[in-house]
Amino acid sequence: MNWPLMHGNISKSDLDEVKKIFDEDNPKLTQGPRVKQFETEWSKWLGVKHSIFVNSGSSANLLTLAALKILYPKGGEIIVPALTWSSDVVSVLKAGFTPKFVDIDLTTLGLNEKNIFNSINKNTVAVFLTHCQGYSALSNELLDLIKTKKIILIEDVCESHGATHNNIKVGNFGLISNFSFYYAHHMTTIEGGMICTNDDELSDIFRCIRGHGLLREMANIEKIEKIKKENPLLNSDFIFLYEGFNVRNNEISATIGLNQIKSLNEKIKKRNENYFRFFDNLTNKNIYSDFKNDGLSNYAFNIISSYPDETFYKKVLKLFNELNIEYRRGSAGGGNQLRQPYLKNLKIDKPKLPVTDHVHFFGSYIGNFPELNNELIHYLVKRLNQL
Ligand SMILES: Cc1ncc(COP(=O)(O)O)c(C=O)c1O
Repeated sequence: MNWPLMHGNISKSDLDEVKKIFDEDNPKLTQGPRVKQFETEWSKWLGVKHSIFVNSGSSANLLTLAALKILYPKGGEIIVPALTWSSDVVSVLKAGFTPKFVDIDLTTLGLNEKNIFNSINKNTVAVFLTHCQGYSALSNELLDLIKTKKIILIEDVCESHGATHNNIKVGNFGLISNFSFYYAHHMTTIEGGMICTNDDELSDIFRCIRGHGLLREMANIEKIEKIKKENPLLNSDFIFLYEGFNVRNNEISATIGLNQIKSLNEKIKKRNENYFRFFDNLTNKNIYSDFKNDGLSNYAFNIISSYPDETFYKKVLKLFNELNIEYRRGSAGGGNQLRQPYLKNLKIDKPKLPVTDHVHFFGSYIGNFPELNNELIHYLVKRLNQL
């Protein structure tokens, strides 16, 4: 058996599209018209006004929090899960906000709204939630809470392209949302990420800080002219308006993205079929299966022990090893970020997070990709049921 985390995510047709570029005279290949076209197509697919293509999901996180700091220079607290990727936490820290860690709900692997409610105080600026592993972390109660408390919602959709809440794609509910196109995700651009928003001002801030902080990256001509007038001693091509980065992507990645987006919905459908083929046949009650599947866009099967039972969990891992199934322990980001060395010496609140810890110690995921063989799925379920 050979069951990797991901297989075949770059197709022959993606590569054929890329080859066409190499026949062009004098290709430039840095951010250009294809990047713009991919941003337009992505905005259409998601249903947002602005999309900004960057070189990774981590860069999307980084710019998102940097932009939030421009809007909220005083800083404050940002509610985050500990079951997420390191860049979600690092981006909060680097922008000078304080991460406030809150436990998750096992049914969605996302932030639990009651815990969020209990953590909101006068210093709370935003909730930065992660839609983990294809599950939507949203609920109507959570959206109401955010509205009532007048705080900002940011969505990390890096692992959940196409997941929905109330039939609307997640990534539409927050002020800003982030996506990743790393090889192992729902679709890939080799490396890549997208920042999405309906806010014109934020969109311009993102374009600016994506490209060194340069004023000329913005779209708002009136604003550009005003700032030029305010800075008569500067060369107008070189006005660095904000503390910027260079996290642009390029024409090759955009070309792959443009080709991949065509089959994204089809791939999502296939992955979800795999998911239900797996979980509908799983009868071993020692493995947790009570996930909230509404609006699912799965890309990995999460095999989590129902109980903190070390002996049983070791049997599961032994089976994966025996069958040559690649797995990652701890689910998203390897489990509880608060246990990671990079946070060790930081003086922040480090609450106990029992649900996150349960996934950290008794959870793992295996790959779910469109061409996963049905027989393999049935065989693995049969063996898991026998444990
Ligand atoms: C939830 C989440 N956020 C952010 C990222 C970072 O994305 P990238 O690998 O494209 O930097 C990842 C990566 O897998 C992720 O899972």
